[in-house]
Amino acid sequence: MAQNKTMGKYELGYHITPAKGLLNDPNGLIQFNGVYHVFYQWNQNGTTHTTKSWGHVISDDLIHWVDQPVALEPDQWFDKDGCYSGSAVAFEDKLYLFYTGNVRNEKNERESYQCLAVSKDGVHFEKKGPVIDQPSGYTAHIRDPKVWQNENNEWWMVLGAQKEDLTGDTLIYHSTDLIDWTFKGSLMDQIEDMGFMWECPDLTQFEGKSAFIFSPQGLTVKGDEFNNIYQSGYLTGDFTKAGKFLPDDYPFRELDRGFEFYAPQTFQDSKGRHILFGWMGVMEPEVEAAVPTIQDGWIHNLTIPRELDYANGQLIQRPVVELEKLRQGQPQVLIGKTKESLQLSTLQNELLFNWKEAAGSFAFQIRNEVLVEYNQDSGRIQVTRTNWLTKKRESRAVTLKRPLTQMQGFLESSTLELFINDGEEVFSLRYFQGQEVKTVAVSFCETGKEPEIIIYSLK
Ligand code: FRU
Repeated sequence: MAQNKTMGKYELGYHITPAKGLLNDPNGLIQFNGVYHVFYQWNQNGTTHTTKSWGHVISDDLIHWVDQPVALEPDQWFDKDGCYSGSAVAFEDKLYLFYTGNVRNEKNERESYQCLAVSKDGVHFEKKGPVIDQPSGYTAHIRDPKVWQNENNEWWMVLGAQKEDLTGDTLIYHSTDLIDWTFKGSLMDQIEDMGFMWECPDLTQFEGKSAFIFSPQGLTVKGDEFNNIYQSGYLTGDFTKAGKFLPDDYPFRELDRGFEFYAPQTFQDSKGRHILFGWMGVMEPEVEAAVPTIQDGWIHNLTIPRELDYANGQLIQRPVVELEKLRQGQPQVLIGKTKESLQLSTLQNELLFNWKEAAGSFAFQIRNEVLVEYNQDSGRIQVTRTNWLTKKRESRAVTLKRPLTQMQGFLESSTLELFINDGEEVFSLRYFQGQEVKTVAVSFCETGKEPEIIIYSLK
């Protein structure tokens, strides 16, 4: 993203970052007239979670992004305290943005309005105001409209909500013209208690199967699961014509096992691919306040785009193929030399590990900071880093469904996204090393079956 930004030693090259201020959720993902649009929650005025507008970048190839004028600013009675998250659809050559207007009334109570803004050129938006009233039985925590069109040209919207009994829920609405919306009730009839609020719902339809992706707040830690303050994950199931989601008999599954991942959104591009961006952060003000990039006036980034597929009862996430265009020069290929340390001459790298059969137990270290460990007996893979606030080491882990045979890591000066077993699991995280370095030290220690390791330097 570098475009004329001076962002300090943790500047990122191929991730979407804000020019300044704070970025959070990806919003309004769409390919409109052939161009990819990514909007994002943006506080232009500082590095805390206030005065959210919609930042905007566009791209022809999902890897080179060009800044656009801010798309939505909180300047109307219905969105005066923030243009919160939402989505985009194209209809009759226009781009429609649905978003939540966040308002604090004179008693400082929250009010939420689900709003529409329309654009002809994809750059300038005309606000049309609220299109949905506050439903009864719910608190004012109701936000993040995600709209899509079905094969009969009807429109559906899911909306994150909190019931009056302070449990999370998702609402579903139906429309034929994007203006008049009919409330159809809860997306799911029976839901087990899953926290106090569900943010950023998204319903993605694959051939013969749907995935309901959402970000529940308030889940309790369960072993290796749910260790971040808030989670993002999914249920698989079927979306009926009546607008109900009938979940399969699989538990809620986290989309990402790392430390920084939240509020993902998906869209389908003209090639039919389901593409996901997530926010590489989690709302935890104390931890966020200690992120070193704040000294350079910015904080947070989006994930790299991932292509989603459904296979064997779960979602598979792979880096989009366009990222291969970032590879420069000849890769380093290491076979049978895996007990050595290596200096990589660029900060941006892609690391590919392939094992002929299954991996043996190993430890892999990046920049003396991030440690990836795999135990061949248990199938558990663990990633450890130093928490920049507490200075303590901390880990996240998952036990793989099948033995490890492949890993693909995308590395930047302060980010790592590690895709495991061809996208069955992903770990996303940030890490910060005090001193400025121009090279990356990696070391690999394997107790048996050595992989082929291919390292590309990235543009
Ligand atoms: C998720 C979220 C959304 C909200 C937005 C505000 O991170 O809390 O629910 O719309 O961020 O920035």
